[in-house]
Amino acid sequence: MSMTVRRLTRAATAGLVAAAALTAAAHSAEAADTLGSAAAGQGRYFGTAVAANHLGEADYAATLDREFGSVTPENEMKWDATEPSRGTFTFGSADRIVDHAQSQGMDVRGHTLVWHSQLPSWVSSLGASDLRTAMNDHINGLMGHYKGEIHSWDVVNEAFQDGGSGARRSSPFQDKLGNGFIEEAFRTARAADPAAKLCYNDYNTDGVNAKSNAVYDMVEDFKSRGVPIDCVGFQSHFNSNSPVPSDYRQNLQRFADLGVDVQITELDIEGSGSAQAADYTKVVEACLAVSRCTGMTVWGVTDKYSWRSGGTPLLFDGNYQEKPAYDAVLSALGGSGDPGDPGDPGDPGDGTLSCTATYTRTADWSSGYNGQVTITAGDEPISSWTATVTLPAQQSVSSLWNGTPTRSGNVMTVRPSWNGTLAAGASTSFGFTVAKNGSDAAPAVGTCTAS
Ligand code: G3I
Repeated sequence: MSMTVRRLTRAATAGLVAAAALTAAAHSAEAADTLGSAAAGQGRYFGTAVAANHLGEADYAATLDREFGSVTPENEMKWDATEPSRGTFTFGSADRIVDHAQSQGMDVRGHTLVWHSQLPSWVSSLGASDLRTAMNDHINGLMGHYKGEIHSWDVVNEAFQDGGSGARRSSPFQDKLGNGFIEEAFRTARAADPAAKLCYNDYNTDGVNAKSNAVYDMVEDFKSRGVPIDCVGFQSHFNSNSPVPSDYRQNLQRFADLGVDVQITELDIEGSGSAQAADYTKVVEACLAVSRCTGMTVWGVTDKYSWRSGGTPLLFDGNYQEKPAYDAVLSALGGSGDPGDPGDPGDPGDGTLSCTATYTRTADWSSGYNGQVTITAGDEPISSWTATVTLPAQQSVSSLWNGTPTRSGNVMTVRPSWNGTLAAGASTSFGFTVAKNGSDAAPAVGTCTAS
């Protein structure tokens, strides 16, 4: 097994782990009024999930580097990425993110060591004794490699079932090792990197409910028995089916009262415009109201790369323009917008018309599929929009609705039919049916233009 410890690229290694907020504060001296600097002013970090394969995109890297003080690799530290076969560790993509973060003075959250998902099949097929060894080896291999470089680790992710029971989720770890696997993972993690904060991380635990009660009971038990746990992560993936709970702050506070830090670890809120902005404000205000809420991470930089891209859940649109939600977060963090910067199209009232176009496949069958493109206006109302959809060569469109297409080869330029007028932040969509003709590839959606 590889146990290589990375040679740190930053000189100030010792201070790196302990001083997340301080590092972000140093950032603030370079650029006032960003998410990271405003949060640092409140003694918090403000981070984002990052995908290594987007770091080469200039606008992605520029937005990341300007705005955020902490990064979480979105997939690159997961078991399938880091130990695809037993004892063979592959750190290339994760190292790229960590190196990038360090070169920009950002801190890194580790995500995640023990999780039932994105788990290679060799792990699931092990017997109990071998599985225990493999779990501990994995923790040691990953934490050893990044020792001293990670401010907080999600040691165990999503170990409780959804729904009302509060039971543990069935997984190879739970089914073969029993309830004790979580405690064992935390003990191994503490020994592997004593400086890292060790977190339990889950979703649908954001308000007081049966699932969060079960996590609460576990944390209370761990604290009473001296099992090493430092923090609880609340993923906070919200949409209309799972809105920001009214008791969000109260729930964060009751965990903090157990003697752990709380962190908002994967925040995204589907929606647009002022309603989305108001929900983001609630979340930020809740964190700021809880002194042990040490930081917030949004689950991606731009809507176009979100795991829920169709729901436009992030702070920057697909063209890296600041959304109303961005302004709301910055304001809730006590930062000021850029009222004196007429070139900033994210701030309301500067007259710049913009829109974004995001694509989702809404139905699929062997010979065809339905695609949908959602058009969202930027911070100004618009009266028309234009989006292009480029189909793979073999495919052809048999029908299109809620839009007016003109075609040139495999490029469709789509304008509104009845739905050109959109309020600031509002959305509409057009749909189309495609004959695959042997190609299942997705179409490419070009930049949206507004007038
Ligand atoms: O990189 C491959 C690409 O080569 C391949 O062509 C393509 C085909 O499907 O898949 C690509 O990998 C995808 C990967 O994201 C990168 O985009 C995987 O299929 C896809 O499963 C994976 O989804 C990730 C998901 O976790 C997996 O469970 C999302 O990006 C990631 O945002 C999401 O993150 C999770 C947190 O870790 C835990 N909490 C919930 C959160 C949202 O689901």
